[in-house]
Amino acid sequence: MSGMAAVLAHEIKNPLAGIRGAAQLLEDGASADDRSLTQLICQEADRIRALIDRMEYFGDPRSLARTPVNIHEVLDRVRRVAETSFGRNLRLVEIFDPSLPPVLGDRDSLIQAFMNIVRNAADAVAPDSGEIVLTTGYRPGVKVATPVAGNEKRQRLSLPLEVTVRDNGPGIPPDLLPNIFDPFVTTKSHGAGLGLALVAKIIADHGGVIECESQPRRTLFRVLLPVAPQNQTGTGHV
Ligand SMILES: Nc1ncnc2c1ncn2[C@@H]1O[C@H](COP(=O)(O)OP(=O)(O)OP(=O)(O)O)[C@@H](O)[C@H]1O
Ligand SMILES: [Mg+2]
Repeated sequence: MSGMAAVLAHEIKNPLAGIRGAAQLLEDGASADDRSLTQLICQEADRIRALIDRMEYFGDPRSLARTPVNIHEVLDRVRRVAETSFGRNLRLVEIFDPSLPPVLGDRDSLIQAFMNIVRNAADAVAPDSGEIVLTTGYRPGVKVATPVAGNEKRQRLSLPLEVTVRDNGPGIPPDLLPNIFDPFVTTKSHGAGLGLALVAKIIADHGGVIECESQPRRTLFRVLLPVAPQNQTGTGHV
């Protein structure tokens, strides 16, 4: 996947910029009718570029810049963006545990991850009675067995930070549920099926775990994350 993303980015972005530029040049001398076509070329080129940009993330070998991050600040940002755009008519509820310690994370990537989950929830719920609930909690006893790269054995990691995103939409079809974190799995006519694949990568890069359970009127994404070591001070404390 990462190799493919890198090749695609390289081989498509440059000719695409050429196509877009040529369409823009044509636009100058075009009639009103033809101009709507050149604009369509530009818009579609932009859409492909945005898709490639998202795919490129999978091939990005840079490691995350991880610092202590206040996850409530991350979720607040997601909520505020949602409320002013795609989630304008929804009820967005926050149930936060105020004693939560900071997560060792990359703030922008975490915003992107939770934005994708909330965006899906907003897409799924009914416009008039949609409700999305964001919760956080501290579960010090939670240990998760995760595979370690290059090692047959599994390591038991402590992932005490729990963030959940719940919605009251129709739920994810049972046959789709096992594959929702795979790339290109989508039921939307304009969906790329990359949102949750990106989320899964971001959470895995944080050493965390994501799981999903779904039934009609109750779809829940649960993210478990490690806390920042105590000697790392930052702005993360609530
Ligand atoms: N909260 C949810 N309720 C119902 N279905 C969901 C929910 N979240 C995800 N899904 C299903 O999982 C599929 C995959 O989601 P994903 O975010 O990966 O892709 P997408 O939203 O279709 O497209 P993209 O995010 O790339 O624009 C969705 O098409 C949808 O069918
Ligand atoms: Mg999505």
